[in-house]
Amino acid sequence: MDKKELVNEAIKARENAFVPYSNFKVGAAILTKDGKVYIGANMESASYGLTLCAERNCIFGAYARGVRKDDIVAFAVVADTSGPVSPCGACRQIIAEYINKDVPIYLANVKGDIVEYKSTGLLPYFFDGSEL
Ligand code: THU
Repeated sequence: MDKKELVNEAIKARENAFVPYSNFKVGAAILTKDGKVYIGANMESASYGLTLCAERNCIFGAYARGVRKDDIVAFAVVADTSGPVSPCGACRQIIAEYINKDVPIYLANVKGDIVEYKSTGLLPYFFDGSEL
């Protein structure tokens, strides 16, 4: 599966976003080395702070199904933004912790703009828990 196909999976996932408050839909998709795709979308709450971003929904959902770091070969995030979507800081932390640093992170919009980052490139000098 190429990056465009993975972004398309994230675009499909985005349609399942539950966003009655912001109306801002975000989709995410993980590709694993066995060719499986795990998707996520943002889920909002009337208690706004309980909202879960698409990226964390996707990563936690994949891990809950047994996926681990070394299984993940690509990650895509998409929203209806003018340029490629920019993940929030909380999601950058989780991306850096849960996805290997050499794995491509595709940030996209629904128009088809895609930029590629690496997980730690999105959050240099992130808190990695090594001192815990
Ligand atoms: N959102 C995401 O899903 N991912 C991000 O990286 C940034 C923000 C969601 C949360 C909320 O449902 C909506 O976008 C507006 O903040």
